[in-house]
Amino acid sequence: MCGIVGFTGRREAQPILLEGLARLEYRGYDSSGLATVNGKLYVRKTVGRIAALRKLLGDHPLKGNSGICHTRWATHGTVTEANAHPHLGGKGEVAVVHNGVIENYDELKRQLEAQGFQFKSQTDTEVIAHLVASLLSDDLVDAVRKALPHLKGTYALAVVSPRFPGIVVGARLGSPLVVGLGDHENFLASDASALGGFAQRVVYLEDRQLCVLTPDKWEICAADRTSADVEVHTLEWDAQDADKAEFEHFMLKEIYEQPEVIRRALAGRLNVAEATAHFDGLNLDARQLGQIDRIIMTACGTSYHAALIGEHLFEQFARIPVEVEYASEFRYRNPPIEKNTIIVGITQSGETADTLAALRESKRKGQRTIGICNVVGSSIAREVDGGVFLHAGPEIGVASTKAFIAQVTVLTLLAVHLGRMRHLSHQAGGRILDELQAMPDILRETLKCHDQVAAIADKYHHATNMLYLGRQYLFPMALEGALTLKEISYNHAEGYPAAEMKHGPIALVDENTPSVFLVPHSSVYDKVMSNLEEIKARGGPIIAIACAADTHVEAKVDDIIHVPSVPEYLQPLVTAIPLQLLAYHIALLRGCDIDKPRNLAKSVTVE
Ligand code: F6R
Repeated sequence: MCGIVGFTGRREAQPILLEGLARLEYRGYDSSGLATVNGKLYVRKTVGRIAALRKLLGDHPLKGNSGICHTRWATHGTVTEANAHPHLGGKGEVAVVHNGVIENYDELKRQLEAQGFQFKSQTDTEVIAHLVASLLSDDLVDAVRKALPHLKGTYALAVVSPRFPGIVVGARLGSPLVVGLGDHENFLASDASALGGFAQRVVYLEDRQLCVLTPDKWEICAADRTSADVEVHTLEWDAQDADKAEFEHFMLKEIYEQPEVIRRALAGRLNVAEATAHFDGLNLDARQLGQIDRIIMTACGTSYHAALIGEHLFEQFARIPVEVEYASEFRYRNPPIEKNTIIVGITQSGETADTLAALRESKRKGQRTIGICNVVGSSIAREVDGGVFLHAGPEIGVASTKAFIAQVTVLTLLAVHLGRMRHLSHQAGGRILDELQAMPDILRETLKCHDQVAAIADKYHHATNMLYLGRQYLFPMALEGALTLKEISYNHAEGYPAAEMKHGPIALVDENTPSVFLVPHSSVYDKVMSNLEEIKARGGPIIAIACAADTHVEAKVDDIIHVPSVPEYLQPLVTAIPLQLLAYHIALLRGCDIDKPRNLAKSVTVE
């Protein structure tokens, strides 16, 4: 979603701002812009990719040692240069970039227009710029501070003004903002990944805090301008994370990282002697863990699908009842929740607005919250009562791959941990740990299906409609396979429980609608085979993903991808790889922008 970078120092701002903005490119955007302060405000904006902004700035460079820039993901107003940020307030007294949504912008706009301010865009952000300009006298920080109480909604802001050269002011409510501390230079960004290599230390702003940056000073204060307690973190950054290496796309690189991602998710968490797992950050003691009698998992998108797998894992290994809720729905419901229920939020980014709001609402009601999250320092990681990090490394491709694998791995460990406090025997716990430890090698083996999947993609990439069918542990994988295909290839696809087909969706089946059957190695095998026959009888082409030991299914389907045979609860992990590769190759053949699919954002920070 939208990205912000700000800089103040002694160096030229433009190259630093552009480099930071390029690091946020993966988050999804449709236009971009940059402003520097050099006696007055200079602004360049374009629609489309950052390459277009880079070209514009190459032809018409901007001088100045401080500035702000932005990638916009349209919410209010279409994708035009005029709607791209930064927006100027007054007669160029301030420039503002903004992430989030100002809900009362219409009312503010009318008030500001009545005062004579002229609007040039359709955005909610421009009201902030004029509002700050209307309140500006001899102190930029004060003007921003006074503007904030008028804004209803969410924001991360960066503001500069030629009347206050070298000062960058930031403010946050509900949208992330992080300050990067350098040597005689300071930075501001909506995501710490923009700051890697520039700042070694960072401070995450809390809601309702402001920051004031100059080249030699940084200050974080509360809304009333009293100074706030802050914690300075070291920024972990590995240049390789931002590099595609030998891969054509980040998504493919991340698919290939998955064996290592499982190893990292397990590292330091196995207690082999006691046949269980242990976690440092849950902040629940054995008595509290033993008292949990219900789990509600809440998430969005791919993370929601991981939660659906978690439901099976917790019920099978820990015998704890589980409910899985879309965070966007859960946040507005008011279900009765008993005292010993924990709320588990699952999120790669740690910034998804709906998941954050659902967890906040649960916390407000006194419920204990746990976060399963990839991004250290993210809002959810900081706000939950306890949590587990995925350690998957930055995920750049918009379609989630390795984070999903890490989520399922961590959920399996958690299920074992809770199970061992209940009915799960030492022997069963030990067997699961052994099986999990074998998974990195098994995933390496699974990746060998790549060429075969590419050939299948070649055969089916013209199909505009596909069905993904699975049962039990593989039903969430059917949803996930369909979601990944939709996201990156723009092909329509639906995931269903295989037996549900005859209740309606089977009407879609014809010779142009391939079905991807996820064939389990489990007690429902025969049932799935009957469902498969039902599709076959209606002339629908069938691609099966089945375990290597299955010699029966091949004769019944048009195409088959064999994956290593693993116990049922691990089948989502081996099935994920051919599903990801199938979507990847179909998207590639259809000429799609795989790492930055249209209309999508890596982290969805608005409702
Ligand atoms: C799909 C995808 C999205 C995210 C969803 C939640 O590949 O990436 O569906 O899973 O936006 O994001 P997080 O996990 O960051 O909360």
